[in-house]
Amino acid sequence: MPPLNLAIIGCGGITLQNHLPGFALCPDTRVTALCDTDPAVLDRARQQCPAPWVSADYRDIIARDDIHAVVIATPNHTHAAIAHAAIARGKHVLCEKPLALNAADARAMADAADRAKVRHMTAFTYRFVPAMRYLRDLVARGDLGQPYHYRSCRLQDWGTRALGWRQIQCLAGTGELGDMLSHRIDFALNLVGPIRRLVAHLVNIHPLRQGNPSDLDDWVALIAEFANGATGVLESSKLASGRNESWRSLDSVELNGSERSFLFVTGDWNHLQTGRRGGPGFERIDVPESYWRWPGSPRDPQSGDPLVAFRYDQAWEFIDAIRSQRPCVPGFHEGARVQAVMDAAVLSAQTRQWIEIS
Ligand SMILES: NC(=O)c1ccc[n+]([C@@H]2O[C@H](COP(=O)([O-])OP(=O)(O)OC[C@H]3O[C@@H](n4cnc5c(N)ncnc54)[C@H](O)[C@@H]3O)[C@@H](O)[C@H]2O)c1
Repeated sequence: MPPLNLAIIGCGGITLQNHLPGFALCPDTRVTALCDTDPAVLDRARQQCPAPWVSADYRDIIARDDIHAVVIATPNHTHAAIAHAAIARGKHVLCEKPLALNAADARAMADAADRAKVRHMTAFTYRFVPAMRYLRDLVARGDLGQPYHYRSCRLQDWGTRALGWRQIQCLAGTGELGDMLSHRIDFALNLVGPIRRLVAHLVNIHPLRQGNPSDLDDWVALIAEFANGATGVLESSKLASGRNESWRSLDSVELNGSERSFLFVTGDWNHLQTGRRGGPGFERIDVPESYWRWPGSPRDPQSGDPLVAFRYDQAWEFIDAIRSQRPCVPGFHEGARVQAVMDAAVLSAQTRQWIEIS
């Protein structure tokens, strides 16, 4: 295979945790450029991945003809401009969630990428949890029956610590809504289908975090009505004391249908819980081993912490889609449809009304 050269723009937390280890597993794939506006962050990333080219300005990196693909892992307000610049130079783009600050910008990114015929992917990393993929297939083959209810709960304990750009509206767009709930909105749309209307509440409980102003939501909840008539209740909090801040904190999705119910918990990555209508209660079922890694992924599912390592399959999906010249899953359009739900949630909270989603 001819080597594929990647640039990573934004070398903070998620790049060190997910992107660099993920791409390191992909054959014939080289991270040849790293970019960050913070020299200390750039140095730290270079120690983990000695890329030959570094820059504080993404335009230097994107201008290079020998870069084939770009990963955007910067704060949310920068995603759209960097993505458009990369697409204009014909680069394939993997962009972190939330894709943009609003749905119009996210759709413009998706349309530009389609027009340029480059591969585009939104980093909805939790799609890669084996149990979530298995659940998606069980629902698609009809095991749930008619979907009645979708319920997701993401509870973490971030306390009152400063969140940097994450607590500033012009940099992040939204708080907990975009940071954590966006993944669970993606689950909902992927498992149940489009949302027809919703009502939402967003609360800023700590307007000061370690002395720094915060103008974004620490807690968010949505009540949703899906186009197929199912109901949805989605809640996410950074202030669930005692739940801890790590990836092991509560992340659950329950689906109730006319035939069965299913319960997915990210921490229990290779099991689901399920019960039949009229049955005695829920039982725990195994996720078949064929789901333990993304199809074709070179990752050994027995190696490393499985709760961390499933995230590396995201890099494989991006690279494999580029090589196979097929759409990435999930693409920018999936990122844009989540953004439309987020826009509706913000409007609903501002106007205290139900919002229809076209
Ligand atoms: N998919 C997931 O599960 C997941 C998890 C965490 C974060 N994220 C997303 O990843 C993105 C980054 O989050 P993070 O936690 O890594 O943040 P971070 O603050 O740790 O890192 C962001 C980095 O981007 C750099 N940066 C800012 N502006 C830049 C620019 N114009 N050009 C180059 N570098 C720039 C900063 O210096 C910083 O080092 C966000 O969009 C976030 O929502 C996704």
